[in-house]
Amino acid sequence: MSQFNILLLNGPNLNLLGKRESNIYGNKNLNDVLDILKKKANKMNAKITHLQSNAEHILVEKIHQSQDFDYIIINPAAFTHTSIALRDAFLSIKKPFIEVHISNIYAREKFRKKSFLSDISNGVISGFGIEGYYWALKTAINRLIINNKYN
Ligand code: DQA
Repeated sequence: MSQFNILLLNGPNLNLLGKRESNIYGNKNLNDVLDILKKKANKMNAKITHLQSNAEHILVEKIHQSQDFDYIIINPAAFTHTSIALRDAFLSIKKPFIEVHISNIYAREKFRKKSFLSDISNGVISGFGIEGYYWALKTAINRLIINNKYN
């Protein structure tokens, strides 16, 4: 059985996890999160390729180049609420993706309730802390198995 190939994208300011508003986003930095997730992925026969960028066009270009991946997990961060470019990039490729937010975007400022991606995503996880990445991974893999991709 070949490995599940998962692309994990993190948007602006998530490079500052652990330092940034730790009351909201927790104390773990992005490398801690990746270490935990990659270990869990290993046990699920999945490989995670990660890109964090503060630049919208870099994320857009990575989405364009995602043909070799089975599933995308993205925390678009602030671009969630602003980026028609990310929305159009996802509409241009036919790749399933799950939107993750560490915080509960519905329990914060009004402008965070609007996502340009949620309605075209294959699911949204919001407010589960960094565990949300794990639940997204688990769901992506379950769906790939159910769809018989690797049987
Ligand atoms: C976030 C929520 C966004 O509103 C915010 O701009 C972020 C992080 C989250 O993970 O909770 O940068 O996506």
